[in-house]
Amino acid sequence: MSKPTYYITTPIYYPSDNLHIGHSYTTVAADTEARYRRLKGYDVMFLTGTDEHGLKIQRKAEEKGVTPKEYVDEIVSGIIKLWDTMNISNDRFIRTTDDHHVKTVQKIFKQLYDQGDIYKSEYEGWYCTPCESFWTETQLKDGKCPDCGRPVELTREESYFFRLSKYQDRIIEYIESHPDFIQPVSRRNEMLSNFLRPGLEDLCVSRTTFDWGIPVTFDDKHVVYVWVDALSNYISALGYGSDDDGDFRRYWPAQLHLVGKEIIRFHTIIWPAILMALDLPLPEQVYGHGWLLLDGGKMSKSKGNVVDPVILTEKYGTDAIRYFLLREVPFGSDGVFSNEALIARINADLANDLGNLVSRTVSMQLKYFNGVMPSAEDRISCGPEDEVIALTAGNSAAIDEAMDALQFPTALTELWKGISRMNKYIDETAPWVLAKSSDPDDRRRLAGVMYTLLEGIRIVSVKLEPFMPSTPAKIQEQAGIAGNADILTWESSSKWGLYPDGAEVKKGGVLFPRIDAEKQ
Ligand code: ME8
Ligand code: MG
Repeated sequence: MSKPTYYITTPIYYPSDNLHIGHSYTTVAADTEARYRRLKGYDVMFLTGTDEHGLKIQRKAEEKGVTPKEYVDEIVSGIIKLWDTMNISNDRFIRTTDDHHVKTVQKIFKQLYDQGDIYKSEYEGWYCTPCESFWTETQLKDGKCPDCGRPVELTREESYFFRLSKYQDRIIEYIESHPDFIQPVSRRNEMLSNFLRPGLEDLCVSRTTFDWGIPVTFDDKHVVYVWVDALSNYISALGYGSDDDGDFRRYWPAQLHLVGKEIIRFHTIIWPAILMALDLPLPEQVYGHGWLLLDGGKMSKSKGNVVDPVILTEKYGTDAIRYFLLREVPFGSDGVFSNEALIARINADLANDLGNLVSRTVSMQLKYFNGVMPSAEDRISCGPEDEVIALTAGNSAAIDEAMDALQFPTALTELWKGISRMNKYIDETAPWVLAKSSDPDDRRRLAGVMYTLLEGIRIVSVKLEPFMPSTPAKIQEQAGIAGNADILTWESSSKWGLYPDGAEVKKGGVLFPRIDAEKQ
């Protein structure tokens, strides 16, 4: 039987020379879901990339005295390095300057024109260059851009338009008959009542006032403008419209487009309309997550707080940063990033709960059994193993449910219940007391306690993999089961009792050093 496919995407990023931790939010979340699906046995295609055209880029490049392509090349290599630092496991990276993307967009534009979905007219409106958005007179706030508050410019030019209005009823019908299409639910209601029901206007899809964009093949004054270029990446990356479209046939429609809430409108209205015009199936789900805020606004330049993702990972490690991003804020809601909150999480959850559990267990096993697990006949139960089992091997369904709903904090909370229960179990069973007893049954009880802990740690280490990709191997090394592939599969993490007799623990380095908040 062939594996089910799972196609997951992030938005393509604008090349920015000011990357902050907020930019990592979508990518880390998508990476976690992609890793989880791979472990569950899906044939995963995970796409990310960069959105490189537009007036803003052209102007920046002019300022620096380089070509737009030279300008984006340098920034994009920094973005690729950042994803490497964040341990992002994307299968593909698309750039809208890639030749195959350019060709696909040109083909799509021509097809839509030929079939009458794109037509030529004239555009007049107010343009916000930093946001690359057009606004009508009534949408402006005090004469400024309603999104960012910066000044706008009046523009009038010949443009091509996409007949978005024609698709309004079909989109409404689709959204209403596919309750999972837009998530969370609040965003679906917002799309319906704020944009779709009031009525859609046709969309300007070409510009003549700048030239850093994909040329319209049949009218070379024009370049394709923003959304037709950007959104098409999700299918051009799979070879749609080319001779080599095997991946498109294999992976489309996508299971999930993960996006920030500010671009959900483009993904749930414009993108479906383009797909309908191309007679292609729609993605199964578009999920709009919230923003990471700093000082009360969407994060931009730092105000004293460190928000540079590279500095943060150098200081605290990639897994700790990933953990924070995934754990701190209910997915879908806005959350506040602060160094204080980050340090508090690292100290409490990682250094204390997880790190201490592993180091205490390894030390005791070395001290009491020379590090080697006694065989089953030399172990007897001691204390509330059932509760440990239920909260480690037994939480798989709860984790699956959380991962299906992209509720990363819920999945991690489930995992930490098991970790906390094991720490409590150590205090309840008091191995140091059993170790002093001369009763041979106490010796066997002690072995039973160590088994419960090491088996629980094995399971937790496997279930942590999607969230924190490098910590599990370190834990498994210390637990003496590194490379023991059979008992480290996702499937094995819902089975209790696989930690091998005779396995030998090893003292290892501190997993998560405690951070002195004062010094930071
Ligand atoms: O929107 N908190 O690109 P982008 C959470 N090129 N997420 C944040 C964030 C923050 N503070 N800052 C950025 C674009 N993001 C277009 C997309 S798709 C066909 C074209 C997220 O670089 C943001 O929400 O502005 C989005 O999901 C991603 O970073 C890229 O944003
Ligand atoms: Mg943005």
